[in-house]
Amino acid sequence: MHKVYITGIAGFIGFHLAEKLAMDGYEVEGVDNFNDYYDPQLKHDRANILKDKFGIKIVDYDIEIIPWAHYLEGYDAVIHLAAHAGVRHSLENPQMYIDTNITATQRLIHACEHYEIPVIYASSSTADSDHLNPYAWSKYVNEKQFETSKLLSSGLRFYTVYGEYGRPDMALHTFADLMSQGKEIDIYNEGDMQRDFTYVGDLVDGIEIILEYMLNQPQENQHEIYDLGTGKSNELMDYIECLEDELGRVSLKNYLPMHPADVKSTQANIGKAQSLGYSPKVSIQEGIKHFADWFKGMYI
Ligand SMILES: NC(=O)c1ccc[n+]([C@@H]2O[C@H](COP(=O)([O-])OP(=O)(O)OC[C@H]3O[C@@H](n4cnc5c(N)ncnc54)[C@H](O)[C@@H]3O)[C@@H](O)[C@H]2O)c1
Repeated sequence: MHKVYITGIAGFIGFHLAEKLAMDGYEVEGVDNFNDYYDPQLKHDRANILKDKFGIKIVDYDIEIIPWAHYLEGYDAVIHLAAHAGVRHSLENPQMYIDTNITATQRLIHACEHYEIPVIYASSSTADSDHLNPYAWSKYVNEKQFETSKLLSSGLRFYTVYGEYGRPDMALHTFADLMSQGKEIDIYNEGDMQRDFTYVGDLVDGIEIILEYMLNQPQENQHEIYDLGTGKSNELMDYIECLEDELGRVSLKNYLPMHPADVKSTQANIGKAQSLGYSPKVSIQEGIKHFADWFKGMYI
């Protein structure tokens, strides 16, 4: 049985990944500091599910100071997801992005080099953009940190990930929240935006495929970057319409110009991940239904 350590395990993606790996027979443990960038109760809810259903041990620690020597020995892989993850928030608080996303990542690299543990880490579609905000450049720096390390590592560029237990600071959750209160939703660039919206179930399947590939064919000191999206770009307005259908509400729309931290469209190039067997399947209609069912049970 392979042992995998996940940072940011109580986060949106960490939670779904831990659940999937535990169901598939991995021994999983992880760390999260349950910070209040968004409601920590949601992080505790996710952590409690992982503990109750699978007996997963989660330590409440900040990765900027965690004594890795007590935690990492004997692991087959680390999946590094802990980060400050808000594009707009990063413009106001760049230092946090340097401390956690860059400095703490370097500490983790150092520890993993010591124990010779391969690492999968979360990068972002934004790392490849021309308009680098502090969040985006922290992810760009991560790719350079791992590229120049002594580790076997894979950087995964995620696109707009959504699904149940999703992040309250992301568009889908914010829209659902405002729509259910009958309030206006802000729509940037007059709605002319396209995104590679990725359902979290497809995403964690992809992470597991890359993990298995790395565990089965270990090569020293190799660094790869993979795009993990759907390979398709959907209209923001179609995404909103699916949500309206699922919540049974029509949204009040406040159209705004382009936000300076945003890009107009994103689309993953998934060929490299597909060559390992990655095959995203969930449409936005289906994925938003999963999200809305959860949201209604939780908040309405
Ligand atoms: N969700 C997306 O659409 C998306 C897109 C691109 C990249 N990513 C990346 O994927 C990763 C996971 O994202 P997510 O959507 O699950 O976000 P999330 O905020 O839900 O999860 C991150 C978790 O890391 C924890 N964390 C943050 N700083 C920490 C610290 N110093 N010490 C310990 N724990 C800390 C947080 O408490 C949180 O639970 C992040 O690295 C993010 O940048 C996400």
